[in-house]
Amino acid sequence: MKKRVFSGIQPTGNIHIGNYLGAMRHWVASQDKFDNIFCIVDLHAITIPQEAGNLRVKTREVAGLLFAVGIDPGKSTVFVQSQVEAHAELAWILNCFTPMGWMQRMTQFKEKSKDQKGQVSVGLFDYPALMAADILLYDTDYVPVGEDQKQHVELTRDIAQRFNSIYGETFRLPEPVMPDIGARIMGLDDPTIKMSKSEERQGHAVNLLDPPDDIRTKIMRATTDSLREIRFDLKRPGIYNLLVIYELFTGRNRADIEARFEGKGYVDLKRELAEVVVEGLGPLQSRYKELMRDPAHIDSLLTDGAARVRPTAERVLAAVKDKVGLG
Ligand code: TYM
Repeated sequence: MKKRVFSGIQPTGNIHIGNYLGAMRHWVASQDKFDNIFCIVDLHAITIPQEAGNLRVKTREVAGLLFAVGIDPGKSTVFVQSQVEAHAELAWILNCFTPMGWMQRMTQFKEKSKDQKGQVSVGLFDYPALMAADILLYDTDYVPVGEDQKQHVELTRDIAQRFNSIYGETFRLPEPVMPDIGARIMGLDDPTIKMSKSEERQGHAVNLLDPPDDIRTKIMRATTDSLREIRFDLKRPGIYNLLVIYELFTGRNRADIEARFEGKGYVDLKRELAEVVVEGLGPLQSRYKELMRDPAHIDSLLTDGAARVRPTAERVLAAVKDKVGLG
């Protein structure tokens, strides 16, 4: 029996190279080794205001991107969270086993709610309980994510352990899995913050569907420092981030990269990096265009995906309800 992998992605904003390098490409790379489920989490998306038509468009766009980067529907299941009702139902039950204090510690909530003050929804606060439900419904072994989601997966383990200790073995305890390099790609305009879908500034992120000239402009304008040497040095976050992106797109090792840019300037690095990223995203963009010619096919893959996972989700939910005394 293969181990189960589960991960999710929100259909909000534009999917960027941080999502790709930190998560999506690893989902593709380990497809053969595991039994994979990837979820487009539209219920999570509505924790911040969304326009209905746009949310539907984005949901299909993310599905198209997942298939375009190489998720193979023959090997992995891709589905939309709201199409499997068990997610919302288990989230409610888990709410009742999650102390407020655990949620209050979540750094992502603190960051996301900082600028919203009184407008913050209860849903945003409760976001990690829904994420725990996503993961626990499928007897998940591994959750491949970027660094920002690690705390949520650890909370999922805490919630599962608490439930198991009250009712006996019910949930499998999932483990977060993060890449050694690229788990936290930083913003191009501000390398002290992570690259994020919710930052709307033009030069912040390279999006997977950006046209080549936009990619070039964004990379050429990326914030660096006033030094010269091109080295992997964590104390120089701007240049470090560009080098990591270069490393991940080319697959070259650090010593070779430093040797290649010996005596050269930041402009040379940026020029070459821009071409590497344009080339790296090219095939994915063509596959995406091709796939989007037939949106009904994408929708049918998603419907099939939901049908495939529903029985597992319903079995786990039924066991939980039985233990709790519901229904
Ligand atoms: P989301 O949609 O924000 O991001 C999708 C994946 O991309 C990773 N990521 C990054 N990795 C490296 N550098 C970055 N700058 C960067 N930005 C994002 C994220 O860590 C994530 O792996 N809460 C999740 C979605 C979710 C989920 C789940 C994930 C819902 N339920 C269950 C795993 C399991 C989220 O908002 O991801």
